[in-house]
Amino acid sequence: MVKVAVMGYGTIGSGVVEILEKNAARIRKTSGEDLEVKYVLDVREFEGDPIHSKIVHDYQIIAKDPEIRVVVETMGGVEPAYTFVKAMLEAGKHVTTSNKALVADKGAELIALAKEKNVNFLFEASVGGGIPIIRPLMSSITGDEIVEISGIVNGTTNYMLTKMTNEGLAFDEVLKEAQAKGYAEKDPTADVEGYDACRKIAILTSIVCGQQVNYQDIHTEGITKITPTDIMYAKEMGRAIKLLATSRQTNDGYVAMVAPFLIPASHPLYNVNDVFNAIFVKGNMLGDSMFYGSGAGKLPTASAVVGDIVDMVKHMNMHITLNWDAEPVTLADYKTNETRFFVRTKASKEEISNTFGKVEFVDIEELADEIGFVTETMSESAYEEKAANLSSVLQMIRFH
Ligand code: HSE
Repeated sequence: MVKVAVMGYGTIGSGVVEILEKNAARIRKTSGEDLEVKYVLDVREFEGDPIHSKIVHDYQIIAKDPEIRVVVETMGGVEPAYTFVKAMLEAGKHVTTSNKALVADKGAELIALAKEKNVNFLFEASVGGGIPIIRPLMSSITGDEIVEISGIVNGTTNYMLTKMTNEGLAFDEVLKEAQAKGYAEKDPTADVEGYDACRKIAILTSIVCGQQVNYQDIHTEGITKITPTDIMYAKEMGRAIKLLATSRQTNDGYVAMVAPFLIPASHPLYNVNDVFNAIFVKGNMLGDSMFYGSGAGKLPTASAVVGDIVDMVKHMNMHITLNWDAEPVTLADYKTNETRFFVRTKASKEEISNTFGKVEFVDIEELADEIGFVTETMSESAYEEKAANLSSVLQMIRFH
């Protein structure tokens, strides 16, 4: 029998308890042990709920109980999660977390601590919800240089963009729906401003380069400025607007960014809709591969946490080596990144051509007082320089 504690009984934590109960027989078979949730740490009491008898408010009760071998952290945010997780690892307990803010910020340090204590710190659920992506990168695609890792890694914004595109719904309305479905972060700013995707691409890049990537170094734009007019243009061009998190190896190191992109129907991420996430991985030997599945939500994310629990139970006396050193890596400047740019402007065609040279115009009849155009491929800094000379820029979206 392995006794487990769950820290944070919100959407994901309650999902973990539900799966451990519902799939107990299956989990016993795959892990070789019976699992029992002994404590649930939360500030709330949950009176009248069967979980009430397991609720504790002091994390030290868990840290000091030698019966607890495995701890689940599903609280979110860096503090107090970091203090609690550190205390658990120091007490020789295995920890799994779904918390990308914690992993992006303290991942290398917590992995090192887990190694020192001969336990495990796993975090499959921190990226891509239920999609297995961390374990394949850590254990399967280990003989390759990963030259690109990019994808749709935020379920909330993908759900919102899909609804805005297909149903013509307004931003606020679709955000409320995503929150009601349990996809969004406690503060949805993290989703819509791209911060959540930024933490996730920082984690993925850290794993593929084996060093700490500071998320603060990643240029990040969210979807708050995307309007129904942008979606109209996207449709006119047979494209979709997707919030992409990308990381590519260049001669100057990895270049990473999070931003909305206009992608064509032929792009593998075009049909990734609703809450689904997909992560594209290009290895120098493997070539292309894609990981696709439910990117957020209670049970998919909890499923990834439970997968980690089973892995830890199977490696109770052994630290699983994870290649992620604390030494920070210097990312290449995103301004050197080359792409095409879609721009909406009130400027004349003549002014546009004089400023940007050869462009493709996108004229929508109903939009009399503006015009869209797509530039040739150029660096971010070249675009910025030219755009500064244009008399009006209503919108810019990168064009894949
Ligand atoms: N808020 C996150 C998302 C949850 O929407 O993707 C899963 O990490």
